[in-house]
Amino acid sequence: MMFSSLRLLAFTVLAVSFVEGASIDLSTRRLAHLAPIFFTPPGLPASDTKVTVIDGASTNQTVDAVVSSDDVTRRSLVRRLPSEYEQIFPGSGTGPSDRDAAIEGTAYLTYTVVDNSTYNVDACLDFCDRVTGCVFANLYYEFNNDLLDYVFSEKSNLKCAVYADIHTAVEKTFFGGQQLEEAPAGLTYIQKSTGWALRTRADIPVQTPDGYDSVLGPTDAANIANGYMGYALLDRYDVQACADLCNARGPDRVGGSCQYFNLWRALVNGVPTTYTCAMYYLVPDPSTATNFGQDNLTVSQSRGYARRNYLVDGGFESYDHCNDGGSFCYTNVTQNWLGTPAGSNDGTVFHFVPYAHSGHSVGLLGSADGSDRLPGTLTPRGTLDTIPGRNYSIQFFLNSDFSGPRLQANAFAEVHWNGQVISTIQPGYSHWTYYQYTVLARGNDVLQFHGARAPAWVFLDDIKVYLVSLC
Ligand SMILES: *[C@@H]1O[C@H](CO)[C@@H](O)[C@H](O)[C@H]1NC(C)=O
Ligand SMILES: *[C@@H]1O[C@H](CO)[C@@H](O)[C@H](O)[C@H]1NC(C)=O
Ligand SMILES: *[C@@H]1O[C@H](CO)[C@@H](O)[C@H](O)[C@H]1NC(C)=O
Ligand SMILES: *[C@@H]1O[C@H](CO)[C@@H](O)[C@H](O)[C@H]1NC(C)=O
Ligand SMILES: *[C@@H]1O[C@H](CO)[C@@H](O)[C@H](O)[C@H]1NC(C)=O
Repeated sequence: MMFSSLRLLAFTVLAVSFVEGASIDLSTRRLAHLAPIFFTPPGLPASDTKVTVIDGASTNQTVDAVVSSDDVTRRSLVRRLPSEYEQIFPGSGTGPSDRDAAIEGTAYLTYTVVDNSTYNVDACLDFCDRVTGCVFANLYYEFNNDLLDYVFSEKSNLKCAVYADIHTAVEKTFFGGQQLEEAPAGLTYIQKSTGWALRTRADIPVQTPDGYDSVLGPTDAANIANGYMGYALLDRYDVQACADLCNARGPDRVGGSCQYFNLWRALVNGVPTTYTCAMYYLVPDPSTATNFGQDNLTVSQSRGYARRNYLVDGGFESYDHCNDGGSFCYTNVTQNWLGTPAGSNDGTVFHFVPYAHSGHSVGLLGSADGSDRLPGTLTPRGTLDTIPGRNYSIQFFLNSDFSGPRLQANAFAEVHWNGQVISTIQPGYSHWTYYQYTVLARGNDVLQFHGARAPAWVFLDDIKVYLVSLC
């Protein structure tokens, strides 16, 4: 209950900031987005995805987008058919005094100029094919721009600006109006501004990020759910960038690290305006995607991805009942875990809600019946199906408070990775605390937890092994 109302509050603030964000955006967008179109030479690679807002504060941070080029390669191998693109809006302004306007929109990637001996739609769409993420091109003539007329070697005033989202005629708001050439040349102006969208891309193209599983969408509603950690606004719809932010996000003290993200596009009066990356330390049920927007803001292209746990049953939940039908029992072997022999029940799994960090079950190190003072070991029964050479993050919660401050003072636990001790934890007397370590995988890795001498017992729960992003 407390969580939902907090979440709701967070969302309300979010929604309001979008509407504000939209109006701020409309006034600053011109500089932010058209400056490169004016002053940089054509044909530069698209810039990396940027975070424009994080948890309510403005920023200019770049997300290192690791975007696969598969898509581009496939598209360039086959000759593009004209039918792969559809015209979204026509151009106007062909006479000496007619005027048109270029798109001012989100998700701008880059531009080029194309041979202007004809109105060269084909060359522009070819360019879009070669730019990763391009789904839309705006082709237009720009007049009285000295860079196009005299400086850039192409000597063409036919500009082709490409975007990672589809824009419509209502976004034709840039009319020119700069004095770039000396009088008697006039102000810059635009003519014949047409828009072309990749026909197959009603949905923004995405690729599931490494280490994640797609669990929601695309749909027209965002999650409203427990475990919300914060959000970032991106300058384009970039699933990998959102995954990178989730991976890099610091853990919530109570809930642990980011386990899920929801990326969605806000349309304000139908115009793509912001791309929200909302992060969670719990994986929400798809049924919590209930936010369709409010007022003039609608949610679209909402997708959810859950971080894959490479450790099976890290919450010990497969030990889901007691044979006697009761609520308290323990064992030294479950479907997924083994307490390895030392003395008596030194590594066990308990089925008892009050002991667990979440769910019904929890791991225990130290003799469960208190009959010896030997440290125990808990080992997953299967090896980890990891990718050799990649880094993984081991994360878990550990509790060392059962016997009180005096007896727990010297408690200890070790994390072993392929037989090496990667950490010795001396938690003292402490309640559930989050720990995380980064390890290098060699494939079929063995993770073990070892330690605790009864009565300085140590409980472990919600153990995760997550793939770390390549840097
Ligand atoms: C972002 O960068 C631009 C240009 O470098 C600068 O004018 C602007 O103040 C920066 N904004 C923030 C929030 O840092
Ligand atoms: C092509 O662009 C160049 C450079 O801006 C300009 O001088 C020329 O008049 C244009 N040609 C046509 C046919 O529009
Ligand atoms: C919302 O949309 C209506 C109708 O399209 C328009 O009259 C109104 O100005 C819009 N409000 C905002 C805040 O954009
Ligand atoms: C595991 O549990 C079984 C059944 O209670 C018991 O006989 C055995 O001694 C235990 N083994 C260890 C190593 O604790
Ligand atoms: C793994 O982590 C180490 C230490 O942070 C880093 O130097 C290395 O580049 C990482 N390797 C990969 C494949 O991410």
